[in-house]
Amino acid sequence: MTLNFVGLGLNDELDITLRGLDIVKNCDVIYLEYYTSMLNCNVSCLENLFQKKIIIADRNLVENKAEQTILNDAKDKEVAFLVVGDIFGATTHTDLRLRAHKLGIKSRFIHNASIMNAVSVTGLELYKFGKTTSIVFPEPGFEPQTPYDVIKKNKKHDLHTLCLLDIKADKEKYMTVNEALKNLLNIEDKRKESIITPDTLVLGCARIGSSDPIIKFGKVSKLLDEDFGEPLHCLIIPGKLHFIEEEVLEIFKVEVNP
Ligand SMILES: C[S@@+](CC[C@H](N)C(=O)[O-])C[C@H]1O[C@@H](n2cnc3c(N)ncnc32)[C@H](O)[C@@H]1O
Repeated sequence: MTLNFVGLGLNDELDITLRGLDIVKNCDVIYLEYYTSMLNCNVSCLENLFQKKIIIADRNLVENKAEQTILNDAKDKEVAFLVVGDIFGATTHTDLRLRAHKLGIKSRFIHNASIMNAVSVTGLELYKFGKTTSIVFPEPGFEPQTPYDVIKKNKKHDLHTLCLLDIKADKEKYMTVNEALKNLLNIEDKRKESIITPDTLVLGCARIGSSDPIIKFGKVSKLLDEDFGEPLHCLIIPGKLHFIEEEVLEIFKVEVNP
């Protein structure tokens, strides 16, 4: 039948579109991808709204067992694959779509808001963002410097950089803005190219799209000690600013204490 990719938006069960809700209510099986992002509500709130049971799909199920589960179900049933935010914000979802296509399974796509466009609430112009990067929790022998290189390249072209922060869903570990900044300063210590210094102006964001979002704009040295509260967090390194962007950023400015 059909594999329905349905975006849930950024906050809670009420962010699904009317079209998405209609489709989900008519599905026989519902999977929720819950390892690349998270909602600000329990899964039971979604189940109450849909009046259906939800199967939580972890990375192993989606990436290694989809043929026996999601894709097998979609051969003769209406299946919903729910994604927090928009539906193709992670490679893993595109891969699932491709595998469905190769098996001759029809897919349907219901979009929603994504962190990739919601960052426009900061006042930064979306079309002036360069490549997005991810900052991961460092591990012994695995301390990638990719984010530093992406920021460097974007800056060279006057572009903003959105840094998505690591999630270890199985351990309920979500990287904070503070941890991300420490990570970048550690790389700066090794590279010494003055891409991220304590004086660099950055934006820390938390829970964008929720009822209690936090956006703070200031020097790295200041934001390192700011509390951004509950997850999810992301970090933005602005490129060259237009005067309108500068004016909006003033709203979020965190002053350094005298
Ligand atoms: C792989 S991305 C999520 C993609 C998702 N499908 C979407 O369209 O928004 C996950 C990362 O984006 C950032 N993120 C997602 N939602 C966020 C939000 N509401 N506020 C702040 N950061 C967010 C966090 O850094 C999080 O670890």
